[in-house]
Amino acid sequence: MSNFDKIVERRGTGSEKWDFLSRTFGSDDLIPMWIADMDFQSPKPVIDAIIKRAEHGIFGYTDLTEEYYETVVNWFERRYKWSIKREWIVYTPGVIPAISTAIATFTNPGDKIIVQPPVYYPFFRSVESNGRRILANPLVLHDKRYEMNFRDLEEKAKDPRARMIILCNPHNPVGRVWRKEELERLGEIAIENNLIVVSDEIHSDIRYPGISFKNFASISEELADISITCTSPSKTFNLAGIKASNIIVPNRKMREMFRSSLEAMGISKPNVFAEEAVKAAYREGEGWLNDMLNYLKGNLDFLKRFVEENMPEVEVIEPEGTYLVWMDFRKVESDPKKLERLMRDIAKVALDEGYIFGSGGEGFERINIACPRSMLERALVQIADAVKRYKEGLVRFA
Ligand SMILES: Cc1ncc(COP(=O)(O)O)c(C=O)c1O
Repeated sequence: MSNFDKIVERRGTGSEKWDFLSRTFGSDDLIPMWIADMDFQSPKPVIDAIIKRAEHGIFGYTDLTEEYYETVVNWFERRYKWSIKREWIVYTPGVIPAISTAIATFTNPGDKIIVQPPVYYPFFRSVESNGRRILANPLVLHDKRYEMNFRDLEEKAKDPRARMIILCNPHNPVGRVWRKEELERLGEIAIENNLIVVSDEIHSDIRYPGISFKNFASISEELADISITCTSPSKTFNLAGIKASNIIVPNRKMREMFRSSLEAMGISKPNVFAEEAVKAAYREGEGWLNDMLNYLKGNLDFLKRFVEENMPEVEVIEPEGTYLVWMDFRKVESDPKKLERLMRDIAKVALDEGYIFGSGGEGFERINIACPRSMLERALVQIADAVKRYKEGLVRFA
């Protein structure tokens, strides 16, 4: 059994989270709880498969075998009862490359793309750097739980330049796992208004007890036909640096267009470790995944108890999925720039600031809890201490 309490030194490995802290936060002297990867080693069978491939010693051009695709098909059948066809799967070197490619392929410059902030901020970049425009359909917070605003979505979807919705399920950063009825309602609106739905399901394997997940495209053939589903073992098994995503595009015409765009950009082929890593993870990683999810639940319970006892003015938005916890600090400091300084300069933790997730994120912080509990505890102690000193007026920002 894996030991998730083990501290594995990541400095010196080119880790974006650890080695490039000063580039993003202006200091190295912070506990990094920001970018969404885990401080846990991947399952042993994945490590072994990569070592075995590396020992071969030749790293020439590669492509994915039928076995790879079968493994992906079986994973969705087994875990989600979602029967996908082998030919629906398109490999991309990551989910963000897939989303940007979908935007460039299926929309025109000046078109509008609906997103639901506060949301994973690279969506904004993918839209805007392609010369498209953001159409925000903000989530609403009711009694510590986020909901979609369908009335607003209906209005936004009617915009003559609206072409696409980027759905985030489970939602990063608010942690909702959307129910089937919510997805159906969103799907109806998309169909009525001829919108393509890009469903980013990268976090779907990471859920807390009792929460089930429905793949958007598995609801009906009509929804499958307008959808591009982004999946990857990268969050699940901590393989983000392997750069392997499987994009499910059931509509043949859309798939051909999508694949042609990837080929045109020269990004349709995998790196040499993708095949072995993905196969090992999906075939032999489930035991590790279950243990990891148990440990994560322990971390979430620990965080909730700690905040209740030590920072009662901070509200934790209970996540249904993802290892990212969204916390409301508005009663501590509602000015997002001052809150940022409190976390970075006083608490000495690197968090993703709420305001970067778009409207509605100001005054919130996103903390990544996929780390050894001792590290989580250290970060929380530093945050609580900073909050206490701030409330007592011992710390002030101009
Ligand atoms: C919702 C969501 N989509 C996509 C990504 C990034 O995917 P990739 O690294 O495969 O581009 C992340 C990473 O945090 C994410 O949270």
